[in-house]
Amino acid sequence: MDNYVKLHSCSSVDEILPLLLEEKDVIVIIDSKVKKLYGEVFPYPQIEFEATEKNKSLTQVGKLTEQLLEKGANRDSFILAVGGGITTDIAGFTASVYFRGIRFAFVPTTLLAQVDASIGGKNGINSNGYKNIIGTINQPQFTVMCSSFLKTLPEEDFKGGVAEMLKTFVIGEKKSYFKAVEILKKTNKISDIYPFIVRAAAIKAAIVEKDMYETDERKLLNLGHTFAHAIEKESGMAHGHAVSAGIVLAAKLSVKLSFLKEDEAQMIKNNFKELGLNTESPVPVSYLMNAISRDKKRLRDTITFILIKEIGNCFKHPIHIAKLEEALYDLS
Ligand SMILES: NC(=O)c1ccc[n+]([C@@H]2O[C@H](COP(=O)([O-])OP(=O)(O)OC[C@H]3O[C@@H](n4cnc5c(N)ncnc54)[C@H](O)[C@@H]3O)[C@@H](O)[C@H]2O)c1
Repeated sequence: MDNYVKLHSCSSVDEILPLLLEEKDVIVIIDSKVKKLYGEVFPYPQIEFEATEKNKSLTQVGKLTEQLLEKGANRDSFILAVGGGITTDIAGFTASVYFRGIRFAFVPTTLLAQVDASIGGKNGINSNGYKNIIGTINQPQFTVMCSSFLKTLPEEDFKGGVAEMLKTFVIGEKKSYFKAVEILKKTNKISDIYPFIVRAAAIKAAIVEKDMYETDERKLLNLGHTFAHAIEKESGMAHGHAVSAGIVLAAKLSVKLSFLKEDEAQMIKNNFKELGLNTESPVPVSYLMNAISRDKKRLRDTITFILIKEIGNCFKHPIHIAKLEEALYDLS
């Protein structure tokens, strides 16, 4: 059977358009900041929007839909999303519901979107203060990861992407974790880091292929995310930075529950610090607990956490909310 997660990687934007040669009616949904930098790479009608978490909303989906109608988009149209994770999420969602679903593809332009958000077909939008609470699981026709976009990425966004990339290695590949940390300590040169980006994307794709609807192994990709979503909700911190703090908290919790050695948790924290990643949550435990209690991964009184046994080996572990609260107060 054909793989349904189709990834292409390239180093030049010239390699993107040949992938669309068969398409007769491409419409681009693009982050307005990215349009200024790279809009002319895409010779198709474009709909731009301001890529903010506030705009990852049903209201914005309505606006995009109106503009698609104005541009005459129909069942045979093809949406190309160009931007970071906010853009791939909302464009993927819009394409999934417009005319009950039309085909789409992703051109992720941030590191975070290349290693994570553009892979796996989760197209989420925010509502009522909750992250990604409305959404679809629907695969893009393809994702094309082009390293040349990353040259203009602000440092803070780059670090957020590094956090998601290392997350994938903590889950699934010890060797790549240590190699990536070693290289990243020495350089931010995209050509040196790119093999790790491609590797992290491939690991995520392989997990999604096995469990598209997240009934089992795909849950591992949520390492650090229960904490991260709570931190984002309570502090407004950007996703990638909340993820690095979330992984550090998940490591501490793994130690507290006697699954992970303390020095390994400390090493993760030290590595993240050395790479300039965020390792602290600015949110008090009571606020974290409040947000976690409403997390969509909660089932009655328990929540399934992803814990770390060792770098490269994570597992699912249901925890009673009361026990979690007790452990978190001890950790803080
Ligand atoms: N669907 C999924 O599986 C999944 C997984 C992880 C994260 N996400 C979502 O992804 C979002 C975060 O993604 P993100 O970090 O890419 O955020 P983003 O889309 O906000 O992009 C970050 C910033 O970089 C700018 N930017 C984008 N490309 C650029 C470029 N090449 N050069 C210069 N600036 C550029 C954007 O305008 C923005 O200011 C969150 O909403 C998160 O929930 C989704």
